[in-house]
Amino acid sequence: MNLGSQRDLFEIPEDIVYLNCAYMSPQLRSAREIGERAVSRKSRPWEITPDDFFEDAEEGRALFARLVGGETDGVAIVPSVSYGIAVAAANVPVGEGQKILILEDQFPSNVYPWRELAARSGAKLVTVARPEDYDWTSALMQQIDESTAVVAVPNCHWTDGSLVDLARVGERAREIGAAFVVDGIQSLGAYPFDVSEVGPDFLVASSYKWLLGPYGAGFMYVGEKYREGEPIEHNWINRYGSEAFSQLVDYQDAFQPGARRYDVGERSNFVLLPMAAEALRRILDWGVDNVSETIGALTDLVEERATQRGIRTIPKERRARHMIGLMLGPDAPDDLAARLTTHGVFVSVRGESVRLSPHLYNTEEDVHRLFDVLERVIG
Ligand SMILES: Cc1ncc(COP(=O)(O)O)c(C=O)c1O
Repeated sequence: MNLGSQRDLFEIPEDIVYLNCAYMSPQLRSAREIGERAVSRKSRPWEITPDDFFEDAEEGRALFARLVGGETDGVAIVPSVSYGIAVAAANVPVGEGQKILILEDQFPSNVYPWRELAARSGAKLVTVARPEDYDWTSALMQQIDESTAVVAVPNCHWTDGSLVDLARVGERAREIGAAFVVDGIQSLGAYPFDVSEVGPDFLVASSYKWLLGPYGAGFMYVGEKYREGEPIEHNWINRYGSEAFSQLVDYQDAFQPGARRYDVGERSNFVLLPMAAEALRRILDWGVDNVSETIGALTDLVEERATQRGIRTIPKERRARHMIGLMLGPDAPDDLAARLTTHGVFVSVRGESVRLSPHLYNTEEDVHRLFDVLERVIG
């Protein structure tokens, strides 16, 4: 179902064409209101009870679990993608000479931890080259073999939205016993995801992009196989019985159940978590399928307008519905994004690609305005 414009739920001035959700989403009006109330709570700490240290966290966990079709017990609260990937890298078994697979130009938070692990373990970090036809799935599948220990990829490439078929890759990874790690920050919330189809060992996303939440709050789904692993830090609230504040020095070896052992210290962020939860509730109300379809109508229009002007784009069947790269080629001015900004149009340039990432606050008029301005800026 096309949800139509939801611009009223956000606070974007009329003259702004914001096509940059992949950089950072604007905040929902309701999430800002909740955040402001939450900030003022700290003025009255006597109203914050021990239960509050658990309730917001459990609510966020449950909402994220619903979003990805997994169990609440499988969700950890993390502050960033890099934190989640660090947990994954600390737990996946990797032997000397084995392969860790990533994509060319993958986002650094899902690269540096693997470079470190490869250096430590003697494994080989293998980069799958960007295929000419944008078919990452085939290119990746060709590289997965018995010597692969880890496949660490996104659902769609952050520079242009080109897709990886995670269900196929996950199946192959399981077949050969490789760990499957997914950075979902550029897709969860705007592109459907189902844990039972994909079977990730680790799936991480921070909330400030397509989950419409604040910066510094995120979630990580952990597959059953890894729920007894090693956290990368040891904090008190992850331990068994931490609800009893008067007995915290009865030190415990056991953890809270499931993936809670990986929760970041001070995960009970009284401002960020309620805001992230509000945004998740809104997305679940819309339905991710509907979000994807609605944004997809806009990216399809972008593709149509680009094709008319002879600009190459990632074709519909090779990209997620919520993001599209325009390949303007080497003639595009280096300061293109800045020039568009002076006309109130906001996009990102990532490598060769002018990345357009609309959301439900955008309209067809925004797409037409983008092309009008592009015409003026690059001729
Ligand atoms: C694909 C991808 N992963 C991760 C991030 C952010 O990483 P972190 O949460 O570690 O700052 C971004 C930000 O642009 C991204 O595009």
